[in-house]
Parts: sequence; C-alpha cells; structure tokens
Amino acid sequence: MSEELRAEIERRLESVIDPVAKESVARLGMIEDLRVVPGGVELGLVLPAHGYEPASEIAAAIESALRQVAGVERVTLSERVEILAGGRTESIPGVKNVLLVASGKGGVGKSTVAANLALALAATGARVGLLDCDIYGPSIPVLMGAGERPHIDENRRIQPGKAHGIALISMGFMVTPDTPMVWRGPMLHGALSQFVDDVDWGDLDYLVLDLPPGTGDIQLTLSQKVDVAGAVIVTTPQQVAIEDVQRGKKMFDDVQIATLGVIENMSHFICPKCDKEHWIFGRDGGRRIAEQLEVEFLGAIPIDPVFAADGNAEGPLLVRQPEAPAARVLRSIAQKIATRIAARNLVRRLI
Ligand SMILES: Nc1ncnc2c1ncn2[C@@H]1O[C@H](COP(=O)(O)OP(=O)(O)OP(=O)(O)O)[C@@H](O)[C@H]1O
Ligand SMILES: [Mg+2]
Ligand SMILES: [Zn+2]
Repeated sequence: MSEELRAEIERRLESVIDPVAKESVARLGMIEDLRVVPGGVELGLVLPAHGYEPASEIAAAIESALRQVAGVERVTLSERVEILAGGRTESIPGVKNVLLVASGKGGVGKSTVAANLALALAATGARVGLLDCDIYGPSIPVLMGAGERPHIDENRRIQPGKAHGIALISMGFMVTPDTPMVWRGPMLHGALSQFVDDVDWGDLDYLVLDLPPGTGDIQLTLSQKVDVAGAVIVTTPQQVAIEDVQRGKKMFDDVQIATLGVIENMSHFICPKCDKEHWIFGRDGGRRIAEQLEVEFLGAIPIDPVFAADGNAEGPLLVRQPEAPAARVLRSIAQKIATRIAARNLVRRLI
C-alpha cells in the first residue's frame, strides 16, 4: 500500500474539525487504528463522552473527507468512548470529572437537578457518583430513594452508598434528623474533607456535587481542595434569582472554576388542560442571563408536579417517569454538560 495514499488520508483527516472543541479530530487524538485496506480504509473514532453531541457530524465529515481520496471506495469507521479526566490531577482518587451544581439562592431545585442529572449521565453509560455537600440540609438520601447505605470497610475506607446505580455520600446518612445543629457546625469542614479524602469512590467518570445555596464557605473549601471540571448554576426565572446567578458566576470566576452554563428550573408549566407551555414568568430569562454572562444556556426545566414525588422510595423523576417532558429536558442538559466537559478535556490534553 502506497505511502502517498496513507499520507493523503492523514492530510484529509487533518481537515476534519470537531465543531465543539474547534480543533482537528486528528490533532485532538480522536483517530486510532488507521488501516489502508484493499479498496478503502478502516479507522477508529475515539469519542470523549457518551452521547457526545457532535459524534455523528464528525463521523459523517470523516467519511466524506476520506471518500474524496482517489482509491478509497469504502470507509469503515468504528467508534468507542474514552472519557477523559478533567483535572490536571485526580484530586479525588478515581474520579475523572467533578461537576458542581450550584445556585445563589436556596430552593431553586439544585438537589433535584443534581440527582436527576446524575441519573441522566449514568443512563448514557457513564459511571457516576453524587456527593451531597449540604451538611446542614442534606437531601440526597431522601431524593434518591431506597438503596444501600455507606459503610466503613476493613481498610477503614468509606464505601459510598448506592441507589439506581449511583454512588452516594451525604451527611444525611451520617446524622439523624434530630442531631443538634450545634454538632453539625464543627463537623462541617472535617466531614467535607473526609468525603473527599476517605471515600473509596471506585472509578467514576463524573462525580456530581450538590452544593448548599449561596456563595459561602463550602464552595471555597471545595474549590481549593478539588480540581473541578466545571460548575452549572441553577436558577428560577424571577429577576431576583437572576442577580444571584451573576453572583454565583463571579464567585466561580474568582476561584478559577469554569461555569459551564445556566439551567433555568421551574421556568414554565405544561398545562394538562390545553397541553400548551405557559411561561408564567416570561420566556427566555435564563437564556438572556446566560448570554449576558457569556456562558451556555443549558435548558429550561418545566414546573412539573411529578417532582413532588421525588423523595418516595422509588427514586427521582428520571427513574419514575423517564418519558416526562422534564426528564427529557434533563437528559438533554446532561448530554450538553458531558459534551462541554469532554471538549474542554480534549483541548486541555493538547496543551
Ligand atoms: N421543575 C420542578 N417542578 C416542580 N417542583 C420542583 C421542580 N424542581 C424542584 N422542585 C421542588 O422544589 C423544592 C425544592 O427543590 P430542591 O430541594 O431540589 O431545591 P434546592 O435548591 O436544592 O434547595 P436548597 O437550597 O434548600 O438546597 C422541592 O420540593 C422539589 O421537589
Ligand atoms: Mg438542596
Ligand atoms: Zn392551558
């Protein structure tokens, strides 16, 4: 097989650009096992995430680029996924990407979003953990429903709990609702450090951190201790919440954590009577704030009374009603987040 043919194929591959990472797929290391065979070429495409949004676009671009090479009639492309690590170091052993779910204001649905996002990421085939960083008001154990509790193993490491395939750690497993608040305060920093240092998370592609509301202590501790792949900010459509988003973004900027995007929760209501979307607080508030902050708008999750049942033993919405409109939005948000993180990791590997 001629060297020129191979060189021509490689040259063509250089011109195929990943539209999200904005770099040649060849340079990004997404091509493997290139073989020139009689009448065509065989190669592998290594995708950086399950559900990587531009995957089919890239595959089509590779095929059409290679078909233009004289002597190539057939292009056989195989695909596999290799999720890259987001941090420069694995600041939590075994964990590739740490994702923060934050909000400036309380009660906007962070925990709900974090739990359902974790499930949506896991549904794509990724290995996912969920760490409840809300020491004072842990909600993950209840949200995730019945499952295994964490335990200490023979090596004195904390083995996370498990529900619906997600590894779980929460203060809610460690204290009962009647543990006095005065005891929780001093445990706070120690507990968080322990959750990071002493938990045997196993091999995780994503660890989702459900943060307490606001721009406090825990956020800072975490940003110093953990190498974070990125943060998403959850908001509701009201103006007051929008101002909190700005504050949240600024806080992450200050500690050099990338804000991957904004999620608008409880943004509209899908009316059971007329089946239409009612945008009670006006449309596109979240989109506008995302534009203003120059981050991506990740999606608008409707108000859905079915969320109220999150917290029964069956688990969150994504498990109970995977076809509900809100569940579909959450899956699309998860795919966007995975894609953003993966593209950043691809580019970072180049440098
Ligand atoms: N899209 C939604 N539609 C309807 N109800 C929702 C939606 N999202 C969240 N909720 C409900 O809103 C309440 C608050 O949600 P959640 O506990 O997730 O908020 P939070 O931001 O984590 O609160 P906190 O700041 O106290 O940690 C819960 O009762 C939850 O079921
Ligand atoms: Mg919460
Ligand atoms: Zn209506």
